Amino acid sequence: MSKIFIKTFGCQMNIYDSARMRDAFAVMGYTETQNPDEAEILLLNTCHIREKASEKLFSEIGRLNEIKTIRTEKGLSTLIIVAGCVVQAEGEEILKRAHAVDIAVGPQNYHRLPELVAHYNRKNGRVLEAHFPAESKFDYLPQTKATSASAFLAIQEGCDNFCSYCVVPYTRGCEYSRSAKEIISEAIELVNSGAKEIMLLGQNVNCWHGEGATDLGDLIRQIAQIDGLERIRYTTSYPSKITENLVQAHADIEKLMPYIHLPIQSGSNRILKAMNRQYTAEEYIEIIQRFRKVRPDIAISSDFIVGFPGETDEDFEETMSIVRQVGYGSSYSFKYSPRPGTPAALMKNQVSEAVKTERLLRLQALLLEQQKKAYESMVGKTVPVLLTEKGKKDGQLIGYTPYMQTAHVKAPSNLLNQIVSLKITKASATSLSSELACATIEK
Ligand code: SAH
Ligand code: SF4
Ligand code: F3S
Repeated sequence: MSKIFIKTFGCQMNIYDSARMRDAFAVMGYTETQNPDEAEILLLNTCHIREKASEKLFSEIGRLNEIKTIRTEKGLSTLIIVAGCVVQAEGEEILKRAHAVDIAVGPQNYHRLPELVAHYNRKNGRVLEAHFPAESKFDYLPQTKATSASAFLAIQEGCDNFCSYCVVPYTRGCEYSRSAKEIISEAIELVNSGAKEIMLLGQNVNCWHGEGATDLGDLIRQIAQIDGLERIRYTTSYPSKITENLVQAHADIEKLMPYIHLPIQSGSNRILKAMNRQYTAEEYIEIIQRFRKVRPDIAISSDFIVGFPGETDEDFEETMSIVRQVGYGSSYSFKYSPRPGTPAALMKNQVSEAVKTERLLRLQALLLEQQKKAYESMVGKTVPVLLTEKGKKDGQLIGYTPYMQTAHVKAPSNLLNQIVSLKITKASATSLSSELACATIEK
């Protein structure tokens, strides 16, 4: 049996893509291994979002090349494949700099991998596929199967927003929505193979406008009809494109979890404008209020960028102030990273590294304090948790509350991949300790 080793960087969409590549190779008889030494195919799925993410690629290729060299000495054939967003942005550079790489494919071309591998011959030239094809890769990929009770499903890809700092519109291409029919058939496949929760993915998931439903809210209503599916989530949402129907779905649909990831990036209207974000801080607050009106317990999370070009102390204080106003359950925050080819990278008033660091530390301290409060507020409550992983400690299982908080529990292993009622006993800033509630009620 041939083996493939896959290492994934970047966002949930990349994790989903890696699973689909694994499916495509499974049809060719490859099984996935966690041990690169025994793999005929070594695949890196890359991310270009910040400089640090992209830089990792070349050191990773170096490491895989050592394995390839040892395997070649033993007479074992080995291919190194690089996929993902760095390939879309810098594919030629990768092939030029890293001679060990055999095949490089962009995010819209990976459905062609089995064919490229089958016909690959280094003597005829290494392969770069990084255009935006007219066909959709989804029409060519084999059916997928869930590998855990919580599964990802990409419903929308690409971005037309062109925030001035971001590479995604260039690496993923323009917005594309899959049809409701295609999505529902994949969701049924996932549920039949063991998924209890589905996370709908999109670079701007609420900009979904595929055939067969009026908006994301309507699509969620249709997906909620699937028997055996217990939880629905979606990410990432773009603030100004939230429809009333989506807000209302949080009131009407029990399976839709009370959590929304709604990145604001900055609390300063001046900076939001320079970022080319299509909303003001006031409009963002209003959207949060609409969600809270129908679902008062909804947990809100966000992404933040500090040190965007021209960000003054006052602008940064506005970000701190909006964080205090919203009260986040959890968040991701980053130092602005200038990316080649984006307008913001050419802006004159770049912020120094020292100032970025200082602002990031202050923001993260505030966000962590809020997260801790949110976790502590769970103590004493009994909540349904989907147990998806085994913990490091013997007999420990890990899962997520409806609010996307991590909960640990000592429980028999047959409860893995089940939704159980847990009584929360203790909280830290990043996790909850719990015990099984009197009867282990499977929801
Ligand atoms: N489409 C989503 C975000 C996708 S990228 C949205 O618009 O909200 C994920 C996150 O990476 C962004 O929300 C942003 O906070 C961060 N990010 C993107 N480009 C960045 C850059 N050049 N420097 C630092 N952070 C960046
Ligand atoms: Fe990037 Fe902006 Fe598109 Fe999000 S909306 S993917 S931040 S360009
Ligand atoms: Fe990275 Fe591409 Fe996702 S740049 S964040 S892997 S869309």
